[in-house]
Amino acid sequence: KPVRLLGLSGSIRRHSHCTAVLNTLADSLGSKAEMTLFPLNDIPPYDPDLDAENTPAAATALRDSIAAADGLVIISPEYNYGMSGVLKNALDWASRPAMKSPVRGKPILIMTASPAFTGGVRAQHEMRETLSGMMGRVIARPQVVIGTVHEKIKDGRLTDQAALDFALAAIGDLLSEIALLRGAKGA
Ligand code: FNR
Repeated sequence: KPVRLLGLSGSIRRHSHCTAVLNTLADSLGSKAEMTLFPLNDIPPYDPDLDAENTPAAATALRDSIAAADGLVIISPEYNYGMSGVLKNALDWASRPAMKSPVRGKPILIMTASPAFTGGVRAQHEMRETLSGMMGRVIARPQVVIGTVHEKIKDGRLTDQAALDFALAAIGDLLSEIALLRGAKGA
């Protein structure tokens, strides 16, 4: 059966470059895998009281979508040298219940993009570290950093072939990791 990937974009604005990159990747996967996006717009600020008393439907849907996916593709803009608060907040929801969260052991590919030539690279370390804290399996590979992203997107699609090829190669590495894990589980 095809591999199921879940895409999370750390930007919730309508014309987000990050979301455009994810949408383009989803369109470019062919028969190798299918990727759906989970928009983070409806995720409220994390509140342990709310989680204990009445977990919001959007947070439960996020957890269920992560649990159902074979792997995650997470892209974030760089906000003040870190990942966006929207993404960090969503990851906090996803990280619970502690030790039993759907992120635990999940193969994850991280990416950043920015109109700056630095491509959001200063958010990469924080994303990896935060996901490690919830025992996500962030794959080891050269960082996917897309600089001057605003010049590489037209009509909501990533049109720069070199950037697209690099990002698709990274997804290839994620699929290899998923296949490796599937093999290990079957053994
Ligand atoms: C930014 N931006 C930004 N860019 C960057 O390269 N380094 C940074 O530290 C920041 N910091 C930052 C903070 C805040 C609050 C905002 C709103 C923006 C610019 C950011 O990269 C740009 O807005 C991108 O277009 C955001 O990504 P999306 O929304 O296009 O996916």
